[in-house]
Amino acid sequence: MLIRRRPDIQPSEITPREVYRQRRDLMRAGLAGAAWLAAPAAFSAKLATVPGPYKLDESPTRLKDVTSYNNYYEFGTGKYDPEENAKALKTRPWSVAVEGLCAKPKVFGIEELLKLAPLEERTYRMRCVEGWSMVIPWVGFPISALLKQVQPLGSAKYVEFVTLEDPKVMPGLRVPVLDWPYVEGLRLDEANHPLSILAVGLYGEELLPQNGAPIRLVVPWKYGFKSAKSIVKIRLVEQMPKTAWNVAAPQEYGFYSNVNPNVDHPRWSQATERRIGELTKRKTLMFNGYANEVASLYTGMDLKKLY
Ligand code: MTE
Repeated sequence: MLIRRRPDIQPSEITPREVYRQRRDLMRAGLAGAAWLAAPAAFSAKLATVPGPYKLDESPTRLKDVTSYNNYYEFGTGKYDPEENAKALKTRPWSVAVEGLCAKPKVFGIEELLKLAPLEERTYRMRCVEGWSMVIPWVGFPISALLKQVQPLGSAKYVEFVTLEDPKVMPGLRVPVLDWPYVEGLRLDEANHPLSILAVGLYGEELLPQNGAPIRLVVPWKYGFKSAKSIVKIRLVEQMPKTAWNVAAPQEYGFYSNVNPNVDHPRWSQATERRIGELTKRKTLMFNGYANEVASLYTGMDLKKLY
């Protein structure tokens, strides 16, 4: 049956899909009993964690939304594609090569990475450049703990993060949206900042594939696309890395990509955001609310030019 939409309804008035799903889930939970609502998603393994720094006084986004509303273009460009398509990703065995300008390059197995440093719980605000945000209880360890092991040379100025490119399991690689593999980068001091982590889990359990299993970057004062998923290589380099989004559309995605309500993306305002699960918009905070911790990294830089 063909249903016509009233022409006077604005797209913004239509219930966002995940809010609709949340309402539908709540209705089903009412029918099936509260136990259904409390049931966790099909998670793989509990992690032994310690409480970390940077607590937030904000409610975490529902686990169901964190694990179903995703960007992971190797598994499709639709928000709900990765949850379905990334099931095929095998995350064991897995290794991450750390190489480039360092005294002790090394290939780390995932088991070794899980034991490299205490796995901390860190709840961070995450802001996507598309205008939505979440609060996610990550499990991870500071990137600095890993970099210390390989001893960066004085000539190393940047860190490049290269992610998995496996056409056997990633149908999205057939679509040339980006120049694969997905690559991200940070300045070395940004990578060594205590807020920057390599996440291996969320909500106390190992990451699911759609969230970047088995190991991904999390840099909470930058837009979500800096968070490279399913990392296979980390390189210490002298020149600013060519990052996937910057190569695809340099006028839209700069290298720094710091959350900044005063610098709009050409297609989306960055002044406000919609927290997934909420209906009203919130004001976006400078550096996503982490200005006290990170503003000094950018002293003297024109953030309108170096976006
Ligand atoms: N990493 C890879 N390898 N491929 C991707 O498409 N998308 C990025 C980032 N990391 C992406 C990626 C974008 S645009 C965002 S917003 C975040 O992952 C989303 O992470 P989440 O789905 O776990 O919230």
